[in-house]
Amino acid sequence: MKYGALPLAALVALVPAFVAAQAGQWGQCGGIGWNGPTTCTSGWTCTYSNPYYSQCLQGSSSSSSTSKSTSTTTSSTTKSTTTTSSTTKSSSTTTSSSTSKSSTTTTSTSTSSTGTTTPVAGNPYAGKTVIPNPFYAAEIQAAIPLFTDSNLAAKAATVETIPTFFWLDTVAKVPTLGGYLKQAAQTPNAVFQIVVYDLPNRDCHAKASNGEFQISDNGVANYENYIDQIVAQIKANPGVTVVAVIEPDSLANLVTNLSDPNCSAAQTAYKQCIVYAIQQLSKVNVAMYLDAGHAGWLGWPANLQPAATLFSQILQTAGSPNTVRGLATNVANYNALSAVTPDPCTQGDPNYDEIHYINALAPMLTSSGFPAHFIVDQGRSGQQNLRQQWGDWCNIKGAGFGTRPTTNTGSALIDAIVWVKPGGECDGTSNSSAPRYDSTCSLSDADQPAPQAGQWFQEYFQTLVSKANPPL
Ligand SMILES: *[C@@H]1O[C@H](CO)[C@@H](O)[C@H](O)[C@H]1NC(C)=O
Ligand SMILES: *[C@@H]1O[C@H](CO)[C@@H](O)[C@H](O)[C@H]1NC(C)=O
Ligand SMILES: *[C@@H]1O[C@H](CO)[C@@H](O)[C@H](O)[C@H]1NC(C)=O
Repeated sequence: MKYGALPLAALVALVPAFVAAQAGQWGQCGGIGWNGPTTCTSGWTCTYSNPYYSQCLQGSSSSSSTSKSTSTTTSSTTKSTTTTSSTTKSSSTTTSSSTSKSSTTTTSTSTSSTGTTTPVAGNPYAGKTVIPNPFYAAEIQAAIPLFTDSNLAAKAATVETIPTFFWLDTVAKVPTLGGYLKQAAQTPNAVFQIVVYDLPNRDCHAKASNGEFQISDNGVANYENYIDQIVAQIKANPGVTVVAVIEPDSLANLVTNLSDPNCSAAQTAYKQCIVYAIQQLSKVNVAMYLDAGHAGWLGWPANLQPAATLFSQILQTAGSPNTVRGLATNVANYNALSAVTPDPCTQGDPNYDEIHYINALAPMLTSSGFPAHFIVDQGRSGQQNLRQQWGDWCNIKGAGFGTRPTTNTGSALIDAIVWVKPGGECDGTSNSSAPRYDSTCSLSDADQPAPQAGQWFQEYFQTLVSKANPPL
């Protein structure tokens, strides 16, 4: 049906209900292009962060709500991860990480740029400026006034400028990308980082899978539409190199957890969808890193060759585009890139940190025809020897921000150290009555009480700041 066929009255009738809604805690309530609610739920105040973003903060804040340009978007990002390390013996590690975030949207009306998307050649980070994730910057701006220690607050404010990835974990969030890219394009040689994370039956080995698409309900087609929308946003906003982490945990689950009926049932769709993502994102020159779990998962010796084989099969099925640059490791996890001594929780895995894992996997990738280049998440890896078990993933107590993003990695195999997970966004709630409760978030090494996955976890953020290593 054409739009013209819809009576105007029908559209008008929808408006009041939408406008009357109030944004929830930490929700977006204004910004350029924002069409959503501009007031907050009781006890929360709409607070101006920047022209693109106003957020509901606790209490009565002084700042103006959104007056000028209005636009924005709410969204919530979530990553739930289940990681399992296979072990040749009987010890197994389960790692799950759950990330969530919210995002902003810019509906900009400015004229289109005419630049072309930068083609991928070599390390996409080399000589580039990596743009911070605007939503995370807004979250941090909102967090600063809540600090009581002004010295710590000043350190926290510096995190705003550190690039993290923008998680596209729902299709509703995709329109936000265009505005971010348009902003990023104002910086010469800019890189903008995204996580593609919306497979049907996502998190097949998680306790509570929380994806929005179901294979049984048109999930593959819905996923392809999600990818098409990302491609359209990138095409419409050229001039920025886009780096993408592709589908955290998905292929790793196919390596180690096909005995889980939920993973074996998802296998065909996962492969089809990831191949589609690679093919389509290649058309707009996105530099892609497929997610490869971490040392405590695919880094176990028995898992390395099966992992290399699967990654290369996927790449070949997609037509081996050179836009697939390599693999991303340790996404949302806590492992060191290079540990001084093995963390006791690594239980004898010779690949007890990311560099050992990468060095062990690289030759197998090369001989399988897959490019042995890596990015490694170190966002929450500043402190080590914190976990009771390697598989523990939820809001690990005492974690600190880690090595800052850099291309000075100390390894020819590693393109960049990155911060994929925006530290301070909660991994999962410790409230056992909450709908998406995961018992991992109540373990003794998990920081408690923890809010819902994706919500801002102020106390945890403050700890990440104070325990940062190197210090902020
Ligand atoms: C997932 O794989 C790990 C080993 O990698 C294993 O310990 C665990 O039992 C598997 N889970 C299921 C449900 O198959
Ligand atoms: C498979 O997924 C369903 C639905 O999410 C869940 O109820 C069930 O417990 C899962 N099975 C396993 C083995 O985890
Ligand atoms: C825990 O979750 C339940 C159910 O959502 C809620 O009613 C309760 O207030 C929560 N408790 C805390 C301490 O947040």
